[in-house]
Amino acid sequence: SLPDRVTIYEVGPRDGLQNESGIAPVDVKVAFIEDLMAAGLPIVETTSFVHPRWVPQLADAAEVVDRLPLAGRVPLPVLVPNERGLDRALEAGVRHIAIFASATETFAERNLNSSVEGQFAMFEPVVRRALDAGVDVRAYVSMCFGDPWEGPVAPARVVGVGTRLLDLGATQLSIGDTIGVGTAAHVARLVSEFGDAGVPVDRLAMHFHDTYGQALANALAALRCGITTFDASAGGLGGCPYAESATGNLATEDLVWMLTGLGIEHGVDLAALVKASVKMARALGRESPSAVVRALS
Ligand code: HMG
Ligand code: MG
Repeated sequence: SLPDRVTIYEVGPRDGLQNESGIAPVDVKVAFIEDLMAAGLPIVETTSFVHPRWVPQLADAAEVVDRLPLAGRVPLPVLVPNERGLDRALEAGVRHIAIFASATETFAERNLNSSVEGQFAMFEPVVRRALDAGVDVRAYVSMCFGDPWEGPVAPARVVGVGTRLLDLGATQLSIGDTIGVGTAAHVARLVSEFGDAGVPVDRLAMHFHDTYGQALANALAALRCGITTFDASAGGLGGCPYAESATGNLATEDLVWMLTGLGIEHGVDLAALVKASVKMARALGRESPSAVVRALS
């Protein structure tokens, strides 16, 4: 059976824009985030307090969040890798953060200049201080299905990293198929191994990239396992600048179309969402890769 209701965790302004070669102005980013909230997205990840040299596309994080209703109805989380990032986020008045870990050594080094073991030492004070300040913490795990340098990734490694992040105090774990190589049976196996390790489905979110066109099929497989939170990116923007083969995330519009067809509640106004994505695609000077956006515009 399928769940009655799903929460869409929108990552377009962060995961989408971090991978665009052009840098959108602050005004364009703020308008995009406002459009997404107006379209009914219940949570919108807005930017990253990472090193500006690593992700220059989001170097304006403080200026962007300064213009957003951080204490409003819609949570507006930001990525934070370390204590320096947390200081900046707290200074900006952020109420929700997300840390991001790697299941593999190569990506831990390339994305965090750390190691699988070293990343926990980096995150531990971030999570502790955030929780002390009443700030909610989500945790991502990247390369949960395969890694471009190391090949297939065993579920046990992902579960090992994921449970340590939950033990640190993260409330939700987002399982990232960073390079989009996963397929449906692998999704089911990973969710079931988390279950065997005592992690209930309601602590998990799925974060699919659509590199191999599997994102929607994988989302359906995850729905069948009882997953009710899905990350998606408006218009299918996105990728990761530190993973060569990472392309766009699962497009929010594609997910919404499927959920509506399945009779699963999501609260998103598809027409308003498509309008927001088309506007953003124009600002970036390229067409949206989402099939649903193209069909409806
Ligand atoms: P590092 O060079 O090891 O940092 O980078 P460090 O701690 O050695 O510090 C070096 C200098 O950077 C210091 O300045 C720090 O103050 C400064 P100095 O003393 O030399 O003047 N610094 C900072 N400045 C601003 N903000 C900060 C910060 N931290 C240090 N937060 C670091 C380590 C983690 C900072 C770096 O590797 C980094 O920024 N990485 C971020 C990479 C990234 O954003 N990747 C994309 C997001 S992950 C993703 O997309 C995957 C996901 O979507 C899920 C999926 O698809 O799988 C989430
Ligand atoms: Mg991602």
